[in-house]
Amino acid sequence: MKPFPPYRIQVVKDIPITTRTERAQALARAGYNAFNLPADAVTIDLLTDSGTGAVSAAQEAAAAAADRSYAGSASYYRFRAALDELTGFEHVFPVHQGRAAERVLFSATLSAGRISLSNTHFDTTRANVELLGCEARDLPCPEAADLDSDEPFKGDVDLDALERTLAGPEGDRVGQVLITITNNGGGGQPVSMANLRAVRALCDRYGVPFFLDAARFAENAWLVTRREPGYGGHSPAEVAREAFGLADGCVASLKKDAIAPMGAFLGVRDDELARRCEVNIIATEGFRTYGGLAAHDLDRVAQGLREVLDPNYLRARAGEAEHLAGLVNEAGVDIVRPAGVHALYLNAGRLLPHVPPHEFPGHSLACELYLAGGIRCVELGSLYLGEFDEGHNLVSPAPFELVRMALPRRTYTRAHYEYVADVLADIAKHPERVARYRVADAPPILRHFKMTLEQLPARG
Ligand code: F0G
Repeated sequence: MKPFPPYRIQVVKDIPITTRTERAQALARAGYNAFNLPADAVTIDLLTDSGTGAVSAAQEAAAAAADRSYAGSASYYRFRAALDELTGFEHVFPVHQGRAAERVLFSATLSAGRISLSNTHFDTTRANVELLGCEARDLPCPEAADLDSDEPFKGDVDLDALERTLAGPEGDRVGQVLITITNNGGGGQPVSMANLRAVRALCDRYGVPFFLDAARFAENAWLVTRREPGYGGHSPAEVAREAFGLADGCVASLKKDAIAPMGAFLGVRDDELARRCEVNIIATEGFRTYGGLAAHDLDRVAQGLREVLDPNYLRARAGEAEHLAGLVNEAGVDIVRPAGVHALYLNAGRLLPHVPPHEFPGHSLACELYLAGGIRCVELGSLYLGEFDEGHNLVSPAPFELVRMALPRRTYTRAHYEYVADVLADIAKHPERVARYRVADAPPILRHFKMTLEQLPARG
C-alpha cells in the first residue's frame, strides 16, 4: 500500500498563476535573485521548508487558547512539557528563531580565536560563529563527496578528522562540536545514531561540549528507523529522545519539524552555561518564559512537536520526497542520492556542463525553473559557497553546483510535484537554452540573500 498523509485539507490558499513575460519582468526587477521576488509572483515556492508548513486545526485551536501572560504563562508550561518529554534537557529556553539560539549559545561557548567543528554548519550557524571571531570548520564524512552513491548516512561527521583535530595542536582551540541533523548544508542527508554515539565518546575523551543543531530531528529519526540496523523496531520519538540524550545541549529552529510559522529553543544541561544563556536571552530576546515568541507561537510549537513524530505523517512525507525524486530522475536530472526528506538537491553542474562555474550553473537552473514554471528554489553552488574577489569575480568554485528544492510540510500535493517535474523535464530537453549569470553587486557576508546579478544570453 502506498503511504498517504494522515490528514485532509480543510483550509486552502490560492497560488498565483502567471505568464512567462510577467515572470521575466519580476525576475529582472529582483536583480535575478529569487530572495528579492515578491511571493505573489511565485507559483510553487520551494525556497525553504522553514515556517512554510501548513498548521493543523489542533495547532490553531491551541493558539486560540494561548495565555499571553508576560511571565510563567500556561503556554510556556505546555511548550516546556512538550520539550521536556522529547529532549530531557534540564534547561530549555524559547527564542524567536534558530539563529537567535545560535547567537546566544555560541556567545557562551566560544570566544575569539576558537574553532567550532561540525558535519556542516548551516549558513546562519556559520555566520554566528564567524561574527564572534571564530572559525566554523566543516568535517563531512568522505562518503558525502560521492553524490551518486546510496550510502545511508552521508550526513555523518568524519570521525577520523574529528579525532585528529581534537588530539592535534589545534585541539585546545576547539570550543564545541555541533552536529546538524539532518545535514541541511550537506544534501539533507541523515546522521546515524552510531555516529552520534562516537561523537559523544570523542567529546568526553577530549573534554569538549557536544551540541546538536536539531532543526530536523524528527526527519533524522525517521531515516534512522528506516536505514540503521537495530532501529527498525523503534518509534521516531524513541530515536529522537536517544539522540537528544547523547548531547550536552542543542539549538533548534522550530520552524521546520515543529511545523510552526515561528519559534526555536535552546536546551542545555549545564547550570552555569544555562545561567549565562538566560541573561543573554532576557537582555536580547525576552523574558525566559517567552523568549521573543507570542504565546500562540509557543502553543503551536507544543502541538506541532507531537504531530511531527507521528510515523504515519513521517512515512507519507518521506514518500512524497521519494516520489518527486523518482519523477526528477525520469526527467533526466540527477539528485544527491539517496533522497532525504526535507529537500531534493539537483545536480545542476551535470545537467548544464556547458555553463562554467563562474557563470553559475545552479543559479541558471534555479532561474530557469522560475522563468519556465514560476517555481522558486535556491542555488547551493559557487554563487553561495564559492570564493569571490573584491570585483565579484569567482576565484574558487564550490565542489558541486546544486539547486535545493525544499519541500514545505503538508503544503503541496503530488499534483504540484508532478507539475514541478514536468517543468524540469522541459528544461532538461534543451539545457543549452538556459541563460547564464554574472554577479553585479554583492555584500561581503551572507551574500546570496542580497546580491544582484546580470543575465547573459544562453550559449545554445
Ligand atoms: N540550522 C539549520 C540546519 C537550518 O536549516 C536553519 C534554517 C537554521 C539553523 C536557522 O534557523 O531560520 O529558524 O533562524 N534553515 C532554513 C532553510 C532557513 O531554508 O534551510 P532559523
